[in-house]
Amino acid sequence: MSDSESNFAAVHRGVLIAEVIDRLEPKPGAIVLDGTAGAGGHTAALARRVAPEGRVIALDRDPEMLELARKATEGLNIDFVRASYDDARSVLAERGIEHVDAAILDLGLSSDQLAWAHRGFSFQHEGPLDMRFDPDRQRESAADLVNRLDAESLADLFYHYGEERFSRRIARRIVEIRKSERIETTSRLAEIVRKSIPGKRGPIDPATRVFQALRIAVNDELERLRAFLTEATEFIKPGGRLAIISFHSLEDRIVKHAFRDDPLWSPLTRKPITAEDQERAENPRSRSAKMRVAERCLNTKQIRPKD
Ligand SMILES: C[S@@+](CC[C@H](N)C(=O)[O-])C[C@H]1O[C@@H](n2cnc3c(N)ncnc32)[C@H](O)[C@@H]1O
Repeated sequence: MSDSESNFAAVHRGVLIAEVIDRLEPKPGAIVLDGTAGAGGHTAALARRVAPEGRVIALDRDPEMLELARKATEGLNIDFVRASYDDARSVLAERGIEHVDAAILDLGLSSDQLAWAHRGFSFQHEGPLDMRFDPDRQRESAADLVNRLDAESLADLFYHYGEERFSRRIARRIVEIRKSERIETTSRLAEIVRKSIPGKRGPIDPATRVFQALRIAVNDELERLRAFLTEATEFIKPGGRLAIISFHSLEDRIVKHAFRDDPLWSPLTRKPITAEDQERAENPRSRSAKMRVAERCLNTKQIRPKD
């Protein structure tokens, strides 16, 4: 039995759900795309709002998350599809849908994925260094990357995707250790990273940034987000809305610039929306959430506020 099979109820709690509904304003009968179904929190809230005639097309790359989401949303009109959100246009086309009324992405990974040791996302659990959202369809795991890349490429990866200032030291140590062993597990990599960093340890485990960087690289997260932002102007109908919740500055920057610079988007949020005190207290994950919302312009000449 896998870790996930032993626990059907999802651990993950969706963030900013009321704010998403408030800003996307889904109407009964609408068709909405949820590009990151996760445990189904936003999917369910959206499906209730568009009922009885409307429906949600909900995508996730991770088959284990889709199973959790299906169980959590039984009885609602949701079409779950195992796909990446940057393939949304073809998923919609296959269903005869040219345009949706609204769309959401809630980026990153769920608390369930983080808690499943066998998925290798967390350095707090001993497990294989995997980190693929779709382990069947993606070829290269985090272990494959860590053991394949040269020191310079590893350092660049940790620096650009993890904003890790000791990236070169960590990369050099990894390459040195690889001479005598293959780095296979989460705990072994975390140990190597901790030993590479000089001085006293701060409150954040030094492995945090390296693990974030590897997850982004393994799943090609930033490129997929950029591709989605470009394609979404084609399948969100003029006047339709897109909400994106991000959890680190690299993602937020991409969303902010796309909404500001692409003439087909009209940003509705000057500053990102963040969680209220109560949600922050109840769900620590919400503390780093930032949501930006934009409207698909009716025409490209519309005058938009500066972000
Ligand atoms: C933060 S969780 C979403 C949580 C969800 N909104 C909820 O309320 O339960 C992010 C989800 O996005 C999925 N994901 C990450 N990258 C993806 C991609 N490119 N395409 C589709 N799903 C993706 C992950 O597998 C994960 O289940």
